[in-house]
Amino acid sequence: MMATPSAQSQRGAGKAPILSYRNVVKRFGNFTALNGVSLDIYPGEVVCFIGPSGSGKSTMLRGTNALDRFDEGDVILDGNPIPTSENEARHLRRRMGMVFQNFELFPHRTAIENVMIGPVTVLGIPKQEAQSSALKLLEKVGLADKTENYPANLSGGQQQRVAIARALAMEPELLLFDEPTSALDPETIGEVLNVMKVLADEGRTMIVVTHEMSFARRVADWVVVFERGEIVEQGPPEQIFDHPHTERTRSFLSHLGWSG
Ligand SMILES: Nc1ncnc2c1ncn2[C@@H]1O[C@H](COP(=O)(O)OP(=O)(O)O)[C@@H](O)[C@H]1O
Ligand SMILES: [Mg+2]
Repeated sequence: MMATPSAQSQRGAGKAPILSYRNVVKRFGNFTALNGVSLDIYPGEVVCFIGPSGSGKSTMLRGTNALDRFDEGDVILDGNPIPTSENEARHLRRRMGMVFQNFELFPHRTAIENVMIGPVTVLGIPKQEAQSSALKLLEKVGLADKTENYPANLSGGQQQRVAIARALAMEPELLLFDEPTSALDPETIGEVLNVMKVLADEGRTMIVVTHEMSFARRVADWVVVFERGEIVEQGPPEQIFDHPHTERTRSFLSHLGWSG
């Protein structure tokens, strides 16, 4: 199926975007990492960012939660430009849960402590309450029996599921995943993708940078293809994976060995 204008207008079902990027530019010295990117994300969508390494996908996420700043353009979150002061940026980061390729758990804290620490220290939630919420979240990601394990005593897939529970503990409006399965042994990738699918089915708004094309094909509502700091194509997964409109999308997918 082609992405018809009606498919485009059904997107978001008449809702306002939760996030809008408007002509975003990011430079590192005289290298342009993002060259005027505009994109809308609607509430409840799973949007997958795909594209070659170095195309600007992580830079997009880092600018979204103000870990880094764009040089030009705006990011509008729920109608308001994202803040530029560090103080406001901290507040913004609480609204977005970020899951990184390398988990970034606190090594000297147990799984449950990793999940509790944000709610207790940042949100001021009483310890007992935070603990019982953390337990529920660890159950949700399938780790009820690993709550007292330290990260070193968890597999990569288990660590990443703790990291997802930790992100959820802050009750974010938006979840950002930056290649969450790229550092995992193949046999643990599926357990992480399954948890992400559950979150998608709950209607959470998620931006997922991924090289897992079959996940993107199955779970994404919208797929954005980046190359050299620009969007070369965006559309529903059926378009991107089955009937790409651009040669650059086709060539990227065929390099990955994607054959539909
Ligand atoms: N801190 C930085 N300093 C210099 N160049 C950077 C920095 N971060 C990213 N880049 C460059 O910007 C480009 C986009 O990077 P990135 O967003 O990480 O790509 P992707 O996530 O798509 O692989 C790459 O060429 C990368 O080398
Ligand atoms: Mg990256």
